[in-house]
Amino acid sequence: MFNLVHISDLHFGREVPKVINGLKDILGEIQPERVIISGDLTQRAKHEEFSNAAHFLQSLNIPFFIVPGNHDLSAHRLIERFAYPWRKWKKYISTELEPLYTNDKYMVIGANTARRMGWYLDWSRGRINQYQVNNTISHLQNADSTQVRFLVAHHPFWLPAVYEFRHLIGGRDKALSQLSQHGLDIIMSGHVHMSYAEVVEGVIISHAGTTLSDRLIPEQPNSFNRITGDRSHLIIELFEWNGEHFISRKQQHFERTPSGWTRERVVK
Ligand SMILES: [Fe+2]
Ligand SMILES: [Fe+2]
Repeated sequence: MFNLVHISDLHFGREVPKVINGLKDILGEIQPERVIISGDLTQRAKHEEFSNAAHFLQSLNIPFFIVPGNHDLSAHRLIERFAYPWRKWKKYISTELEPLYTNDKYMVIGANTARRMGWYLDWSRGRINQYQVNNTISHLQNADSTQVRFLVAHHPFWLPAVYEFRHLIGGRDKALSQLSQHGLDIIMSGHVHMSYAEVVEGVIISHAGTTLSDRLIPEQPNSFNRITGDRSHLIIELFEWNGEHFISRKQQHFERTPSGWTRERVVK
């Protein structure tokens, strides 16, 4: 069994020090073997924000796996955005934008879904292209049958009905159907600052809210997920900030059937 924590949308520049301390406290209790971060590490992609974020990540003393989000591209410094969009990411965080990590229990595949521009006015929207889908499939084909296969991508592959105006990730339908056919188990994402989990085409889509920032939406406190289990049974445990501490709110149990994952029960 593995013991992972999924945090997201840290938005350094809008981080809340008390929540950072609370997260470190609960991670000390949970003792995850790895922390997964699904993008929006910074608020405005500034040097200082990346530097502070990098310092925070190092201070955890836990191996981490990270992909960028749309806020990790500068929205205002357009020469930077178009000419060298990921220079700060590579300087402060990682030389890789689409990392891969694998061990005997699981495989984690990263996809960078933030885009410099698109055929729409809202450039915060993301996309997964066919090259990225093919790349993910080639990793999935190398997985052992018992390895749980995660994809980490910032933008949403599913949204609750009330938040569909936030837009699903571009390329979603084709990508999800192909990834499902090739045995992907879970997609971990952020961007909408909401926590939820849903099963679509036999794939679990699991979102963490904003874990550390004050960029909250109504009825969605700071949150993160703990994911434990194996390739037959997975538990996603939601932790929410209550103003003083992160506390466990619910556990969602999932079972894998011949046709993919299915939600078994929710324990509050
Ligand atoms: Fe965000
Ligand atoms: Fe985002």
